[in-house]
Amino acid sequence: AERTFIAIKPDGVQRGIVGEIISRFERKGFKLVGLKQLIPSQSLAEQHYAVHKERPFFSTLVNFITSGPVVAMVWEGEGVILSARKLIGATNPLQSEPGTIRGDLAIDIGRNIIHGSDGPETALSEIALWFEVSEVTDWIPSDYSWRTEK
Ligand code: GTP
Ligand code: MG
Repeated sequence: AERTFIAIKPDGVQRGIVGEIISRFERKGFKLVGLKQLIPSQSLAEQHYAVHKERPFFSTLVNFITSGPVVAMVWEGEGVILSARKLIGATNPLQSEPGTIRGDLAIDIGRNIIHGSDGPETALSEIALWFEVSEVTDWIPSDYSWRTEK
């Protein structure tokens, strides 16, 4: 099944809203298949944000993401990549719709509390970058057939 990489950034961890964020994905019905907390190394952060290398905010972004613990996750489910982006909301929290994670819980683009892969290819590469194969666990929720016909 489809999987995506989600990370609660240091601001989300410091603000004590890890549970709130995980709850939203759980209540939606997606399945948590990987979870760990770590302080990303400089190298990991630079690889993760490599597409933004030439942007003026790159070093600020890398400094921020390495400034404290991050909760790294892999979530699974049909359509999870796009759906997670919708749950997360627009990049700038002042433009994110109410009801989204950023729309409800953040006010600044540089403190937007959560990351989600933006497509199938980035999902695969980000999961491989942040997780060992053995750290991702497949399992079947006992209420699975109440969540989906498939
Ligand atoms: P991610 O899920 O974190 O990748 O966010 P995104 O896909 O909604 O946005 P994008 O990949 O374009 O940018 C990555 C991150 O860089 C954003 O989440 C912001 O934290 C940060 N960022 C993007 N644009 C700006 C900007 O103009 N200024 C600052 N300070 N940060 C920015
Ligand atoms: Mg992005």
